[in-house]
Amino acid sequence: MTTDATTKPTVRPSSLPVKPRIYSGIQPTGRPHLGNDLGAIRNYVALQDRYEAIYCIVDYHALTHVHDPEVLRRQTLEMAAALIALGLDPKRCTVFVQSDRPEVTELCWLFNTVTPVGWLQRTPTYKEKRANQPEDVNHGLLTYPVLQAADIALPKASLVPIGKDQAPHLELSREIVRAFNARYGETFPEPQAVYTEAPVVLGTDGQRKMSKSIGNTIEILAEPDVIRKQVMSMVTDTQRILRTDPGRPQVCNVCQLHRHFGKDYEEIWDGERAARTGCVDTKKLLVERIIAHYAPARAMYSELLADPAHLRAILNEGAERIRPIAEATMTEVRERMGLR
Ligand code: TYM
Repeated sequence: MTTDATTKPTVRPSSLPVKPRIYSGIQPTGRPHLGNDLGAIRNYVALQDRYEAIYCIVDYHALTHVHDPEVLRRQTLEMAAALIALGLDPKRCTVFVQSDRPEVTELCWLFNTVTPVGWLQRTPTYKEKRANQPEDVNHGLLTYPVLQAADIALPKASLVPIGKDQAPHLELSREIVRAFNARYGETFPEPQAVYTEAPVVLGTDGQRKMSKSIGNTIEILAEPDVIRKQVMSMVTDTQRILRTDPGRPQVCNVCQLHRHFGKDYEEIWDGERAARTGCVDTKKLLVERIIAHYAPARAMYSELLADPAHLRAILNEGAERIRPIAEATMTEVRERMGLR
């Protein structure tokens, strides 16, 4: 686990929680992929005992691109089941759904008033989304990072476990909080990113980050046959044409992923370099390891989804647990802004 070296320590406002608070959000994309787990969820799990940890399924954010209410509802529950199956323990951390704590939308509006439009227009994800969905450049896409800043600020979180793709958003959150503090007095900590050993996981194409919208994912909780097909389709070292050509593990995504599924990855890399093993052998080994590693989580995921009422109860309890935190922040913010 590493914290972002580019961010500097910040002043601690007197109204801050004594124990540092961790917050992170994840979109309700249904079953998470390997990039979500290696880049973020592993840290959510690792940090839940060391800090007061709050994790949110951000369904308001998803409305900027998912428009089928039934799909959104189903995928929200699926993500909740996945997070718990992958190791979040609702007794040791808080898991809730964003729209169950609507105070965040009020804080988002208030943050909008300290956020210059230029900052939002320059956000890489906004430019990317505008290009990818030109027929639906809704205002939510522009203000998406402001809502993200409000997510983090509502519980006054100071640490945010995320993958590297979220770094520009986190930087913007820091700037928004700084702008608020400068105008209305020290209220929020400037949050710092926390990264795993795998802050950027490439997709099966070996080129772009793993992402559901690109369609280059390995769905860790899918049926073994789906995982097998996805891993076997991975692009390896494109310069290794013949089985007898030496492999280059440093540029092969399959070899890189082996780092996270066994201590013997150096031996696997040596086998590739000496052409003792071929790309197919290395992929087959990776398939078996991924399937075995996630087998207990896959079983628990199915069990949890079979009892949606129980899942909903966990999420309701999470939202209730942070109600006093959210209400206290909003009371303070309204007061500072002259709204009372
Ligand atoms: P989302 O839902 O796209 O991703 C959830 C988490 O998974 C990480 N991640 C990756 N890490 C490494 N390699 C990859 N290929 C990869 N793909 C995804 C993401 O970095 C993220 O940590 N905007 C956020 C959700 C959000 C949020 C927040 C996050 C809303 N509010 C407040 C932190 C704090 C998003 O869309 O993540």
